[in-house]
Amino acid sequence: MLKAICSRKELTDSVFYCCIDDIIDTPELEKLKSITHHISTTRFQHCLNVSYYCYKVCNALHLDARSAARAGLLHDLFYYDRKAYNSHKTKGQPSHSRKHSDIALHNAELLTDISPKERDIIQKHMFPLTLSLPKYTETYIITFVDKYCAILEFCVPKVQKIINIRRTSDEN
Ligand SMILES: [Fe+2]
Ligand SMILES: [Fe+2]
Repeated sequence: MLKAICSRKELTDSVFYCCIDDIIDTPELEKLKSITHHISTTRFQHCLNVSYYCYKVCNALHLDARSAARAGLLHDLFYYDRKAYNSHKTKGQPSHSRKHSDIALHNAELLTDISPKERDIIQKHMFPLTLSLPKYTETYIITFVDKYCAILEFCVPKVQKIINIRRTSDEN
């Protein structure tokens, strides 16, 4: 079962999946499944969430949904621990917010062919923290979708927990 947060759709038999089927099962993506991201999810699930919702938004707007899906899946393709990086960061070193998008782009380019648009989406997904302006509408879209997914990933498990506690107390 492969699903995005707040969606019941099984993704493996969707048009969306055809956009990413050559990269999603690679060891490089597999490694992200063991890394916690946004407290209550994995980096893999976060990348899948961003990929899927970028695809949906771009598709609805008749933009390049395939590039958005691929770049969305690869936008956080890095393996270090954010807290450890920030705690050991010395003066003059870039912040995690700026550094990880460059690392993700480097890793993505080792994994597959990256188009100029996909490069822009991955490298500037933290805009405005990345300073340089996005060149494509799809890049602006990922900046919103990334934050939207982060909020869902943080809030949904907490809401589910409250619902489960209420259900349990109602049953007793
Ligand atoms: Fe990121
Ligand atoms: Fe992200």
